[in-house]
Amino acid sequence: MKITRTPKSRIDSVDFSNLTFGQNFADHMFVCQYKNGAWQEGEIMPYGKVNLSYSLHALHYGQAAFEGMKAYRKADGKVSVFRPLDNFRRLNISGERLLMPQIPEDIFMEGLMALLKLDEEWVPKSADHSLYIRPFIFSSSEFIAARPSEDYTFVILTSPVGPYYPGSVKVKIEDKFTRATSGGIGFTKAAGNYGGAFYPTHKAIEEGFKQVIWTDHKEHKYIEESGTMNIMVRIGDSLLTPPLSDRILAGITRDSILKLCRDWNLDVQERLISVDELVSAARDGSLKEAFGMGTAAVVSTIDGIGYKNEIFTVPTPKDGFAMKIKKGLTEIRTGLAEDKFSWMHNI
Ligand SMILES: Cc1ncc(COP(=O)(O)O)c(C=O)c1O
Repeated sequence: MKITRTPKSRIDSVDFSNLTFGQNFADHMFVCQYKNGAWQEGEIMPYGKVNLSYSLHALHYGQAAFEGMKAYRKADGKVSVFRPLDNFRRLNISGERLLMPQIPEDIFMEGLMALLKLDEEWVPKSADHSLYIRPFIFSSSEFIAARPSEDYTFVILTSPVGPYYPGSVKVKIEDKFTRATSGGIGFTKAAGNYGGAFYPTHKAIEEGFKQVIWTDHKEHKYIEESGTMNIMVRIGDSLLTPPLSDRILAGITRDSILKLCRDWNLDVQERLISVDELVSAARDGSLKEAFGMGTAAVVSTIDGIGYKNEIFTVPTPKDGFAMKIKKGLTEIRTGLAEDKFSWMHNI
């Protein structure tokens, strides 16, 4: 693999105690081109602007998908990535649905590991901080015609980050707009899923919420996801999350939390949760907790749910399941607890 190092690191210009999510990028990036039906050799180069044409296929037709994962600084100072092979597989699931070429595992993993070794100093050392990793693939032929691209580009960027949503959030149950439909691309991390979600989310923010809880496309009767996170609620002593479908992204945090909770012998169920059930649990006080699950925020507690002009307060106990789960995951990631599921991939 060709590696071109930056002549001068930018690390000293970044304030690691005050990081805004996704604003600072490490010194290098990994780039690999797919041309004439084959992946070319990958390359590491200084992070920077690239020369692309305005006829770039991805800008017009949206053949583009991304991933998000994190590298953590362990208590012993070593660096470890959380479940990178799961993100690799999911990127190829997105790629298949969007008719993009499958990325070989060695290109993904060797590119990632070489990049992390080179930019290891960019993995923050403070608690709740990490290096966010953004692998993505986009169609890079230069033509405007609504047919699949011939060329593709696979890139990995990294970005040091602090906590994503500080504090709890108030969310609105969305009963008009839809994130995903059956037979569509909701289960992928297609760029367009996010572009389509900005408008409804913006409307919810104007109404004083931070995010929306997406509901099913047909009747808006069942809850599906919370913004760009999977959702879990605690009713009584049961932890509930909607079952996966082609409208829901199979979150790696969701899967990890399910495994962790089952390992702890908690009552955790993947089943349909209707808006009616959620609202009556909020009314009668059996809704004990609600939280989003995702790479960026890990666990993001919900302290209020809005539905049809009513706002229901949701408890956010300091000793609740959300906090126990967050602590449990953090301890595995930082090497303070046993990694019994072999989730951590040392660099
Ligand atoms: C729509 C959506 N749902 C759920 C998730 C959570 O997935 P993961 O835990 O793999 O980050 C994400 C990504 O972070 C997402 O974009």
